[in-house]
Amino acid sequence: MITDPKTPYPWINYLGNEDFFSLTSNTGGGYTFYKDAKFRRLTRYRYNNVPVDDGGKYFYIKDGDTVWSPGWKPVKTPLDHYECRHGMSYTRIKGLKNEVEAEVLQFIPLGFWGEIQKVKLTNHGSEKKSLKLFSLIEWCLWNAEDDMTNFQRNFSTGEVEIKDSVIYHKTEFKERRNHYAFYSVNQPIQGYDTDRETFIGLYNGFDSPDAVAAGHPSNSVAHGWSPIASHYLEIDLEPDESRELVFMLGYVEVEESEKWESKAVINKRPALSMIEKFNSVEKVDKAFTELGEYWDDLLDTLSIDSGDDRLDRMVNIWNQYQCMVTFNMSRSASFFESGIGRGMGFRDSNQDLIGFVHQIPDRARERIVDIASTQFEDGSCYHQYQPLTKKGNSAIGGDFNDDPLWLILSTTAYIKETGDFSLLDEMVPFDNDVSRAKSHFEHLKASFYHVVNNLGPHALPLIGRADWNDCLNLNCFSTDPNESFQTTGNKKGETAESLMIAGLFVVYGKEYVKLCRQIGKEKEGDEAEGHVEQMVQAIKDHGWDGDWYLRAYDYYGKKIGSDENEEGKIFIESQGWCSMAEIGKEEGMVEKALDSVKEHLDCEYGIVLNSPAFSKYYIEYGEISTYPAGYKENGGIFCHNNPWIMIGETMIGRGDRAYEYYTKIAPSFLEEISDLHKVEPYVYCQMIAGKEAFKPGEAKNSWLSGTASWNFYAITQYILGVQPDYEGLRIDPCIPKDWDGFKMTRKFRGATYKIEVQNPSHVSKGVRETWVNGEKMSSNLVPLLEKGKQHRVKIIMG
Ligand code: BGC
Ligand code: NOJ
Repeated sequence: MITDPKTPYPWINYLGNEDFFSLTSNTGGGYTFYKDAKFRRLTRYRYNNVPVDDGGKYFYIKDGDTVWSPGWKPVKTPLDHYECRHGMSYTRIKGLKNEVEAEVLQFIPLGFWGEIQKVKLTNHGSEKKSLKLFSLIEWCLWNAEDDMTNFQRNFSTGEVEIKDSVIYHKTEFKERRNHYAFYSVNQPIQGYDTDRETFIGLYNGFDSPDAVAAGHPSNSVAHGWSPIASHYLEIDLEPDESRELVFMLGYVEVEESEKWESKAVINKRPALSMIEKFNSVEKVDKAFTELGEYWDDLLDTLSIDSGDDRLDRMVNIWNQYQCMVTFNMSRSASFFESGIGRGMGFRDSNQDLIGFVHQIPDRARERIVDIASTQFEDGSCYHQYQPLTKKGNSAIGGDFNDDPLWLILSTTAYIKETGDFSLLDEMVPFDNDVSRAKSHFEHLKASFYHVVNNLGPHALPLIGRADWNDCLNLNCFSTDPNESFQTTGNKKGETAESLMIAGLFVVYGKEYVKLCRQIGKEKEGDEAEGHVEQMVQAIKDHGWDGDWYLRAYDYYGKKIGSDENEEGKIFIESQGWCSMAEIGKEEGMVEKALDSVKEHLDCEYGIVLNSPAFSKYYIEYGEISTYPAGYKENGGIFCHNNPWIMIGETMIGRGDRAYEYYTKIAPSFLEEISDLHKVEPYVYCQMIAGKEAFKPGEAKNSWLSGTASWNFYAITQYILGVQPDYEGLRIDPCIPKDWDGFKMTRKFRGATYKIEVQNPSHVSKGVRETWVNGEKMSSNLVPLLEKGKQHRVKIIMG
């Protein structure tokens, strides 16, 4: 619950679960789209606007001479009371002014292509109130990029229709579109406007529309320029009386033959049937209850009782919720991602899955197949694909050599969660070409061998365009500021090697071997194991700098991330992956590397990516050295990779340190420093400014980041240590020593595991006894138990 509308930055929420989505800020800013934030944007939004977050779903209330908005913006009349509650897929904003209370509940019913706004007005005063209510949205002319750039055309194309209380947006419907949008209210209206200039006035802002000041609309019909939808309602309220209205912003697709009702008049039937579904408060309330039950059910799959509210809130609610959002949105639409730039990332979407797969495994399976379909026979793949077409994006291309390996992560996570090995036999296209389909297992094999077949001079993996760190562009050598670091390769990639991919290969190579053995492919498993062992050796021989793992070899074969370097002596990614791969654990390499992380990379707000940060542009390193020191990939706390270190720490049993790192970046632990942190204290952000930054601790790029799934994975599977495996749940916690234990409820393969972990000897790691339904087990692998039942699992650490 937010109690001051002036948050340090707009704090937003996402509405929608499947096809239809809205972003909404705590003051009612934001926009709506169907499936694709670029191609099917319903309402307009101006990024990086002045003032920030202007444009959204607004209501204006005129009460005598006072004009105000329930969410404070856009009018900004001081409110007598304000609160905004962001919840699971809904937002409820309440404002109180001069004894009138206005509550706006926004949500998208399950499986529905429309956003509901239930508006409740209450007169708490002792006098009768005669209120004037204006709604406002601004239509986007569908293609969000074109909408913001192609004014010579789109100032002339806008078209609307108005019938009863419904305003229809039909720009381009007469030509190639089979869709229109509408904005309705379930009451007769006393007027409307659909032309922006008429409603607002050419020289006004959203805060002071002419129509609201005048106290009446003009019933304008937009022809070109900027179509809007604004309803006007006159509402009388006796003392203590309330009125509830249901507004709906909907999206409709119609068959070619069904497009028209009569000449130039659109077929409104589909819209009217959507409106009818929710034309009463009872129907809306029922759908809202269903949405709540849906979320309760999803979140019931995994929940903990740790004794610390902040941790419980992250694990049980917000981190899981964010994982759903990253699964749905990838990196497309947030307040930092404009919705027109990026599609679904190959590596991003695979990683997002590990935080989501337990929620809706069927959707995860479908996603894995979509992703794998954009791979090529040699294992390489498109770096991104478009959600609308599911086709690889050739403008961006491929050759990010870490990409293929993440498919092994997502696939094995899915099979461990579900036991559904049939995915491996599914025929999956290469390059989206069904005639080139092979079994999904062949895709994993291609991923594995893509690394084996692309080794450099030290028998380490060639980096290609970049590895996970998109900004370490070792073959780019760009001198042209108009060139993209992401898509340019001016040098042949035959020398630059990545220790991050090397560690990643050992981790997921071992997973691949394990999977092969699991399905009886012993020979393939043995052969693959040989390659993994060779990689371990190559890392020991050429990837160790004395106190930590090197990061890479550059185009010239020179070390990166070495004490020999003047800047960028040590990097987080290779410490994370080589520790997780346990390279040289017996020789103490893991411990030493992680101690070096503590010494050189850790700071008050988290672990920075590299140190010292680069102070000048290194043409042979690329984009990483373009960022000012302490920001983004150049010495920022890039939260996505902090959990790799947490997991690394659990490999050597250091639960205190793993948890310390966890709490440093977990949003619920940062509430007290919200003014510095700036972004939402309920979701992870991509980056917090690092120790060398101008403002250490200030965060950016909240919501859409692999940080969500990796932190969820680290806390649940490595710190709390409850890991789905092929034959059951393996329980191997690594917690702070002063914890007495914790409880987790985990639904797994149809059964409910009520897990209680006790820590009587106050250790960090080690399981002394495992009990299942009162029976002592021989190991900490809790077997698959009877479906449909609850089972008691007791773990005694020691
Ligand atoms: C950002 C990266 C991002 C890349 C691709 C870079 O400018 O720093 O974090 O992955 O662009 O969009
Ligand atoms: C964000 C990108 O989406 C992701 O793919 C990349 O790994 C990180 N930035 C680090 O560069």
